[in-house]
Amino acid sequence: MNLFNVYPLFNINPVKAQGSFLWDDKGQQYLDFYGGHAVISIGHNHPHYQKTLKEQLDKISFYSNSVQNELQTELAEKLGRISGYEDYSLFLCNSGAEANENALKLASFHNGKSKVVYFSGSFHGRTSAAVSVTDNPKIVAPVNYDERFIRSEWNNTGQLEDIFEKEGTEISSVIIEGIQGVGGVMIPDAAFLMRIKELCQQYDAVLILDEVQSGYGRSGYFFAHQEYGIQPDLITTAKGMGNGFPIGGVLIHPEFQATNGLLGTTFGGNHLACAAAIAVLDVMKDENLMENARIMGDYIEEKIKMLPHIRSIRRKGLMIGIELDRDCAEVRSRLLYDHHIFTGNSNDKAVLRILPALNIKKEETDLFINALKTVLEGLTTEAAKALTH
Ligand SMILES: Cc1ncc(COP(=O)(O)O)c(C=O)c1O
Repeated sequence: MNLFNVYPLFNINPVKAQGSFLWDDKGQQYLDFYGGHAVISIGHNHPHYQKTLKEQLDKISFYSNSVQNELQTELAEKLGRISGYEDYSLFLCNSGAEANENALKLASFHNGKSKVVYFSGSFHGRTSAAVSVTDNPKIVAPVNYDERFIRSEWNNTGQLEDIFEKEGTEISSVIIEGIQGVGGVMIPDAAFLMRIKELCQQYDAVLILDEVQSGYGRSGYFFAHQEYGIQPDLITTAKGMGNGFPIGGVLIHPEFQATNGLLGTTFGGNHLACAAAIAVLDVMKDENLMENARIMGDYIEEKIKMLPHIRSIRRKGLMIGIELDRDCAEVRSRLLYDHHIFTGNSNDKAVLRILPALNIKKEETDLFINALKTVLEGLTTEAAKALTH
């Protein structure tokens, strides 16, 4: 059997990883500045993470959600404490798309309405409702297309007000990323977020903050929206939550009523997944990783901001979008093949997306900074060469 060929692959086969480094089957070392799509939050194979998972494997790795699971309770308590959302409750699932799917559904159960507003540039996942609120027609199949999903322009308060004026009584929820990742590291205006919150309150719509990529300390806050002091009704999380072990969650405002069978999953919140997520939170707290994200993010920006070919840097903590004056593909490929550094791209072709582990060290950021400098200055030299010939 062949694999269903949906991924463009680099010809690199990583077989080992530690901290912010990977090694391929030929022994070549790579610096990881992308964390496999923002997943690696506490570094590869962190000793505490490994120990916790190994110990859990020796005890029990799975039973369904029909029995007591104290690890779920421990995870919910720790997540509540570190995020400041202690009075919210937690529904556990397996991925970011699933977290958003459940949030959209829960909002609709809650207020009995069925329309959803989403924003240009959004990415919320590939399952049914999640892909319907994703702004990329190429991945929305006809079966997922529905006029009840309404697209509004990013950071455009006036357009959103018009939509609410026309259809507000039918709008169940508004879904927005804390910071758009796939869209090119787009940061919402504070006034825009605050107006969304007001409109949701005015029209009894649920505000869903998708913190799947921007959450878990990446922005220097636990959730990116916390910088603005707004409180969403539902918050979704995944990616960094398990540092590679699949787990997602929805944080749910106390106003929402749980009833038996309302939501459910076979694998969500299993013992191994909870052990992984607890280990991540322990390391984040013990090693002050939110602070490190702020410090290292500031340092990287300061060091690269004067480099040639950079138009702008969009950044919070270690969620960094470097907008170049050209398609970033060549720069990315030189970083990977000449300097052995993984970076990411985005739907905005000019934006290089940088998402290192939150415990990245200064000397590791220097490797990236120096490599980026060489690559970008190399582009200048070549352009100059081309002009003199
Ligand atoms: C903001 C956001 N939401 C949801 C998702 C979907 O997560 P998953 O791939 O775990 O389903 C992603 C993935 O990139 C994301 O960036």
